[in-house]
Amino acid sequence: MTRILFVCLGNICRSPMCELYMKDAVERAGLSDRFYIESAATSSEELGNPVYPPAQRKLREHGISALGKTARQITKADYSRFDYIFGMEESNRRSMLRIFGGDPEDKIRLLLDWTPRPGAVADPWYTGDFEATWLDVSEGCDAILRKLNDD
Ligand code: 4NP
Repeated sequence: MTRILFVCLGNICRSPMCELYMKDAVERAGLSDRFYIESAATSSEELGNPVYPPAQRKLREHGISALGKTARQITKADYSRFDYIFGMEESNRRSMLRIFGGDPEDKIRLLLDWTPRPGAVADPWYTGDFEATWLDVSEGCDAILRKLNDD
C-alpha cells in the first residue's frame, strides 16, 4: 500500500482536486487496493470547510464528486503516516518543512516534479481559472500514478 498526501494552503481548491482526481484515476486503473490517498492544508484558514464550489463544479464536469470532503490542516504526525507528500508550490514545501520539522526521509515533492514541466500548480484562488488548475492536477497525478505503479 502506497500512502499519498496532497497539500496546499487552504485544502479547498488545489489539494482536494488532486485527492479526488487521484482516487478516481486509481479506481479507473483497478488499483484502489494499492493506494491510500488524502489531502490537507498548511494553514488553518479554511478548517472544516467544503471544497470551494468552483472546484467542485470542475470536478463534477469530469464525473467526480467532492461531497463529504472538508478541509483539515496537516500535523506533525502526518509525516510518518504517508510515503509521499506532494505540495503544489514552493511555499507549501517551506510550510511543511516547518510543521514537520524537516524531511529526513525525503518524502516531500511538488505535484509537477515528475512531469516534463516541473513548477507551481496554477493557483485558481486569485485568477478564477479552474481549468488551468484541472490541467495541472490531471497531468501531475497521471505522472505520479505512472511512476509509483512502475516502482
Ligand atoms: P487552495 O486555495 O490552497 O488551493 O485550497 C486557497 C484557499 C484559501 C486561500 C488561499 C488559497 N485563502 O487565502 O484563504
